[in-house]
Amino acid sequence: MKTILVTGGAGFIGSNFIRYILTSSDEFNIINLDALTYAGNLRNLCDVESNPLYRFIHGDIRDKDTVDRIFCENEIDYVINFAAESHVDRSITNPEIFLSTNILGTGVLLDAAKRHWSLSPDNKYCREYRDGVKFLQVSTDEVYGALGKEGFFKETTPLSPNSPYSASKASADMLVRSYGETFALPVNITRCSNNYGPYQFPEKLIPLMINNCVNEKPLPVYGDGLQIRDWLHVSDHCSAIMTVLLKGRASEVYNIGGNNEKANIEIVRLILDATGKDESLISYVKDRPGHDRRYAIDNTKITTELGWSPSYTFENGIRETIRWYLDNPDWVKEIVSGDYMNYYEKMYG
Ligand code: NAD
Ligand code: DAU
Repeated sequence: MKTILVTGGAGFIGSNFIRYILTSSDEFNIINLDALTYAGNLRNLCDVESNPLYRFIHGDIRDKDTVDRIFCENEIDYVINFAAESHVDRSITNPEIFLSTNILGTGVLLDAAKRHWSLSPDNKYCREYRDGVKFLQVSTDEVYGALGKEGFFKETTPLSPNSPYSASKASADMLVRSYGETFALPVNITRCSNNYGPYQFPEKLIPLMINNCVNEKPLPVYGDGLQIRDWLHVSDHCSAIMTVLLKGRASEVYNIGGNNEKANIEIVRLILDATGKDESLISYVKDRPGHDRRYAIDNTKITTELGWSPSYTFENGIRETIRWYLDNPDWVKEIVSGDYMNYYEKMYG
C-alpha cells in the first residue's frame, strides 16, 4: 500500500482530495499535514476522519523537524503539496506570509523528500531515489499572468505573475523545477484554473456571493465585473491530480482546466437567479489592484497525453454547488462567525 503525504488537507481542495481518494480507493494511506490557519477546517473532513487509512497531523510545512519526523516515522511514497496561502486579496494586504509559506514551506518539503528518498543521502551528487516516489506541486494558472481577449495558457507560456500570491506560487514552481533538474527528484507541477465546489472558504467569489445572497447583503463586484475566470469543479481537479501523480512524466508541468470561461458578473447573476434574489444586491466596488483580466487554460497536454477529462459540466456542477451551500448553512455560519477558530484555540492552543 502506498502512503501519500497530503499537505494543506484541511483546506478547500485538499479536503476534497482526501475524500475523493478515501471514497474511491482503498490503496492509499493518507497523512494530512495541516497548520490549521484561518483557511484550514477539520470539519471539512469529519465524515472520513475515522477511516483507518487516514491520519491528521497538526503542523507547519515550514517546520523542518515536524516534516523530518513524518518522513522518519512513515514510509512516504508521494507528497502532494496543497498547503499555501491562497487568497489574492490577502496577498495584497499582507504579502509576507505568502512568501514564507508558499516558497520557504515548499523548500522544506522538497529538501525532506530529497533526503529521505535518496538512495545515498550522504552523496550530494546522488540522483537516484527509491522506486515509485514522486513530489507533486499543486500550482495555479495565475503564474502565467493575464490574457487579453484571445489565446490560452499553455505549459510553455512564460511565467508572468501579477500578484504577490501568484509571484509566490511561481517562485515555488521554480524551486520544484530546480529539484527536478539539479537533483533528478521525480517531480510534477500541476497548474489548475479556478475551482468551485463544496467546502470552499467563503472569502472566494462563489461561496461569498451565495452567502451574501442568503443574508441579503450587497454583492461586491470588483471593477466592471467583466474579468473572466475558467471554472473547474473541485472533484475534476482531484481526479486530474491523481492522474498526473500516477501517469505524469517526471519533471513535466500539466495544465488543468475544463474550458468553462465565465465573466464574474455572469456568475453573480447566476447565483442571484438560483437563490431567488434580484440585481439590486449587486454593488460595483473599487477594483482589485493588478487584477488579471482573463484566464483560460489549454488542457490539450493532460487530455491527450494522460487521457484525463472532466466529468462535470459547469451547469450541473454550479447547480449542485449552490445547493450544497444552501443545504449547509451551519458550516458557513460557523466560519463566518469565527466559532471554529475558537474551537481550534481550545483544541490545539
Ligand atoms: P485553502 O486556502 O482553502 O487551503 C489551504 C490549506 O493550507 C489550509 O488548510 C491551511 O490551513 C493550510 N496551510 C496554510 N499554511 C500552511 C502551512 N504553513 N503549513 C501547513 N498547512 C498550511 O486553499 P485551496 O483553495 O484549497 O488551494 C489549495 C492549493 O491549490 C493551493 O496551493 C492553491 O495555490 C492551489 N490552487 C487553488 C485553486 C483554487 O481555485 N482554489 C486553483 C488552482 C490552484
Ligand atoms: O485561477 C486559480 C486561482 O483562483 C487560485 O490560484 C487562487 O488560489 C484562487 O483564490 C482563485 O483566485 P481568484 O483571484 O481568481 O479567485 P477569487 O474567488 O478571489 O476571485 C474570482 C474573481 O472574482 C476575480 O476576478 C476577483 C472577483 N471578485 C472576487 C471577490 C472575492 C469580485 O469581483 N468580488 C469579490 O468579492
